[in-house]
Amino acid sequence: MKKRVLVTGGAGFIGSALIRYLVKRGEIKILNLDKLTYAGNLESLQEVADSGDYRFVHADICDAPSVKEALNDFQPHAIMHLAAESHVDRSIDGPSAFIQTNVVGTAVLLECATEYWRGLPESEDQSSTLSRARKSDFRFLHISTDEVYGSLGAEGLFREETHYDPRSPYSASKAASDHLLMAWHHTYGLPVLMTNCSNNYGPFHFPEKLIPLVILNALEGKPLPVYGRGDHVRDWLFVDDHAKALTLVLEKGAPGEKYNVGGNNERTNLQVVETICDTLDQLCPDYLQRLNLKSFRELITFVADRPGHDQRYAIDASKVRSKLGWSPEENFDTGIVKTVQWYLDNGWWWQPIRAKKYSGQRLGTK
Ligand SMILES: NC(=O)c1ccc[n+]([C@@H]2O[C@H](COP(=O)([O-])OP(=O)(O)OC[C@H]3O[C@@H](n4cnc5c(N)ncnc54)[C@H](O)[C@@H]3O)[C@@H](O)[C@H]2O)c1
Repeated sequence: MKKRVLVTGGAGFIGSALIRYLVKRGEIKILNLDKLTYAGNLESLQEVADSGDYRFVHADICDAPSVKEALNDFQPHAIMHLAAESHVDRSIDGPSAFIQTNVVGTAVLLECATEYWRGLPESEDQSSTLSRARKSDFRFLHISTDEVYGSLGAEGLFREETHYDPRSPYSASKAASDHLLMAWHHTYGLPVLMTNCSNNYGPFHFPEKLIPLVILNALEGKPLPVYGRGDHVRDWLFVDDHAKALTLVLEKGAPGEKYNVGGNNERTNLQVVETICDTLDQLCPDYLQRLNLKSFRELITFVADRPGHDQRYAIDASKVRSKLGWSPEENFDTGIVKTVQWYLDNGWWWQPIRAKKYSGQRLGTK
């Protein structure tokens, strides 16, 4: 009998990559619970939508009755919690949605999950048509960010023990949700796991985030905005590598433990933008000709910095590597070529988003 996993936020960037990976692997049944905010897109799941191992329920994690109904109906062996408001710039313009979903929503989900988990049998129940999970096998995996650790100087790495020092409304809301998770583990014994990862990139990434924004602006001959001097450093993780790490943590991680996941690919934002330009120069000289440019680098435009912009994030991922045997397959140079090529080949996915949902305007200046 296949295990069942409830994924929240599965219509988002990372959630959809995770579901595509799990369904293709074929050992798990998935229920995707998603509110379908501006960032949720069922088109990202087109290739698995007809699989008998995948189902979707349109629900808000803040809505306890809907969450309870989904849990009781689907009887999951595990929850992978990715639903969130995820864009730092939007958290500057409107923090309350971040508090509501990331903090209140996570608390609601934890309460519902705890009630459900307490009702599970001690041993596997094969008496009904749907075999129920054993209480001791149940897991709640919460997906968080390295941004909860604050900002680094030129040296050092975030480790699992690094003190929390969130500095944007987004990271503060994620930090709060991380603390709730651990409180539920220590207080109620809920078997939780947590991951804190660095910046993801790859296919199906909503084009408000740096990498897809730059690719699509470049293809349209628009300015490529670089905040401040472009010297802020991020570690970049290819989203499919992240999906594999999350699966390993779910299956092999120790309850109550957290795992940092990073790609070991530090780049300044300016380096990222220049690499995208150079990749586009190689892959689509016809666009250059049409736009009357010698290189896409000519479109790079420095703009006012993000308020409170953290200087550097970098992850020490040695725990997930040594304890669980994870290692990323892509480095930034290979992953970025795949990503750029994906956007060149998949206008059907991003063109409606650029036309109807978000066309690239500056966010986060309030
Ligand atoms: N993208 C990154 O680089 C990154 C890095 C570190 C951590 N994370 C974390 O990983 C998770 C997924 O990130 P992402 O980039 O895929 O985000 P995303 O914004 O692309 O997707 C979020 C998904 O959650 C759904 N959602 C939002 N509010 C909801 C609610 N109240 N109820 C149910 N569904 C809701 C949205 O519809 C969307 O499908 C988030 O928790 C985020 O904090 C992301």
